[in-house]
Amino acid sequence: MTNKNRQILVTSALPYANGAIHLGHMLEYIQTDIWARFQRSQGHECYFAWADDAHGTPVMLWARAEGKTPEELIDMMNEQHKTDFRDFGISFDNYSSTHSEYNRELVELIYGRLDQNGYIERRPVEQFYDEEEGMFLPDRFIRGTCPKCGTQDQYGDSCESCGSTYSPTDLIDPHSAVTGSKPVMKASEHYFVRLGDFEDALKDWIASGALQSEISNKLQEWFTDGLRDWDISRDEPYFGFRIPGTEDKYFYVWVDAPVGYMASFKELCVKKGLDFEAWWGKDSNAEVHHFIGKDIVYFHTLFWPAMLMGANMRTPTAVYAHGFLTVDGAKMSKSRGTFISARTYLDHLHPDYLRYYYAAKLGPGTGDIDLNLEDFVLRVNSDVVGKVVNIASRCAGFIGRQFDGKLSDSLHRPELFQQFVEARAGIAADFEERNYQSAVRRIMKLADEANRYIDEEKPWLQIKEEGKKAHVHEVCTQGINLFSILMSYLSPVLPFTAERAGAFLNRDVSVWRNIDKPLLGVTVNTFQPLLTRVDPLKVNAVIEASKESLKPAKSASSAPAGPVIEPLAAEITIDDFLKLDLRVARIVKAEAIPEADKLLRLTLDIGNETRIVFAGIKSAYNAAQLEGRLTVMVANLKPRKMRFGTSEGMVLAAGPGGKDLFILEPGEGATPGMRVT
Ligand code: 2FM
Ligand code: ZN
Repeated sequence: MTNKNRQILVTSALPYANGAIHLGHMLEYIQTDIWARFQRSQGHECYFAWADDAHGTPVMLWARAEGKTPEELIDMMNEQHKTDFRDFGISFDNYSSTHSEYNRELVELIYGRLDQNGYIERRPVEQFYDEEEGMFLPDRFIRGTCPKCGTQDQYGDSCESCGSTYSPTDLIDPHSAVTGSKPVMKASEHYFVRLGDFEDALKDWIASGALQSEISNKLQEWFTDGLRDWDISRDEPYFGFRIPGTEDKYFYVWVDAPVGYMASFKELCVKKGLDFEAWWGKDSNAEVHHFIGKDIVYFHTLFWPAMLMGANMRTPTAVYAHGFLTVDGAKMSKSRGTFISARTYLDHLHPDYLRYYYAAKLGPGTGDIDLNLEDFVLRVNSDVVGKVVNIASRCAGFIGRQFDGKLSDSLHRPELFQQFVEARAGIAADFEERNYQSAVRRIMKLADEANRYIDEEKPWLQIKEEGKKAHVHEVCTQGINLFSILMSYLSPVLPFTAERAGAFLNRDVSVWRNIDKPLLGVTVNTFQPLLTRVDPLKVNAVIEASKESLKPAKSASSAPAGPVIEPLAAEITIDDFLKLDLRVARIVKAEAIPEADKLLRLTLDIGNETRIVFAGIKSAYNAAQLEGRLTVMVANLKPRKMRFGTSEGMVLAAGPGGKDLFILEPGEGATPGMRVT
């Protein structure tokens, strides 16, 4: 390799701490990991440090709903995330949380410098406020009717139906997604970073080649529209870091999230005795590369470098955005079973399969990537198992049985070996440029050549011929050596298979510097199948399990997956329907049952009588929130004896469960006891 050793820090975007990891996340982590492993394979000093993105309103509300502290929940998720990543072979050097003291210190340092340097401005802002909950409402926690197309129940910032974006005050009939109440406008002082002050410096940074061309073009548009000040404060209650010098203001989660990259690396420096300043100091020669999704480009190419510039710190070497993941050509869908969690995948399938498939599809651009499940099975089976692993299987048996596991002292076709070695520069350039699909194409072309060579030599026939044993020895040694080179090239993509190949060959195939030294006269180990074929039935099992995992619908996540639409139940007649006696009920009392995870004990007034109903809605409502509200109940349901008493009916609610459960409320004017028809 001609490059001198580089110092490289790579990061992936930090996953939110309130959701499980899914295959959409994994696209990015696998992309980053391949790059990190590739850099290490070249002998560079490369670290991969990242963390959970722990702060913000969703985690705070989740903790309230669960009756736990945010810290308890984020610690639990941190463990789950790390386990998923390890099991997918993500070679992170440190995985932390943005809720760490390292991060708090760095956030305060950066903010302090921004303030000192005159980049922070304070001014009042009017926002929707939920008086019942006593909190300002983030846009995503305001629901209402789209002002453009009239679709009901849309978010405060954009409509999922017509795609328009607007401000929450434009919504028709806005209400709080936290309590359902009508929010009021309230003013409070907010802190802003004056982004416009950085326009020239940002333009210089972009000119340094830090971004893909399509991203820098997008940035030009943003510059033309003018850079607006960035609101970096949030009022209490909020789960985050308090802004120094205030009692009730917190840093917006997007301030401390990118600083989390730096803080996780700092933690690593302390653990490993690395020099933090050498990487993050103003005059650092080290490289910092961020891998992100194209939806968070604004934060990484404007806010984050501006914060660093304003704090007199180095800026990132590069920010790489990738596209979104679709499955079978469509957005991941819970009802179709294509919203697949990392864990569900791993329960059934080998991580290297997905790593290979993603690599085969990833290029340097921002285009979307489709995980086509049929193609996934075919491609992995044909390329990895059918081509690469097959080379070793075809040769290893002879080496083991006929030659006691010892390779010959010379190759049959040294020039073919050399041709494989010489492919290194092109493949390395592809990996460096994140053109993994091109790297994979080159590697598979070589695998085809290796197989063609074995097909021509036919060791299984030649071994039966008189006097051909030494020749077969050389042929199989040639095959094993070609396989070794291919596994080196694939080691960033297939770490588990490469490790097993290394154990067979007695060589660390992940080090590319050894590629040009053939394995000759040495003993290899007994060959074990390195990777078996993808079983299509297991792919089906993943889909089925992803559908099923919805049924309990324990939703700790605010992953933007869209609403779950369950299939319709079997048809009923009007007579069936008329059997239901639905009544308006007023919740006069709501009590939590401490021993029950899900149940609230509701006392319901239905006009001329009072009913006790145990409702499984504790995950979505605090008892106190419900008192006085109207709902709808099935009043003629046979009473049911439960552990905590007899339930005399059922209240109606919509949604899959967990936090996404909404009791039905008749409009104003309805009174207890009214029949619902
Ligand atoms: O979009 C997201 O999932 C964010 N949690 C990413 C944060 S990346 C960074 F800035 F920390
Ligand atoms: Zn709309």
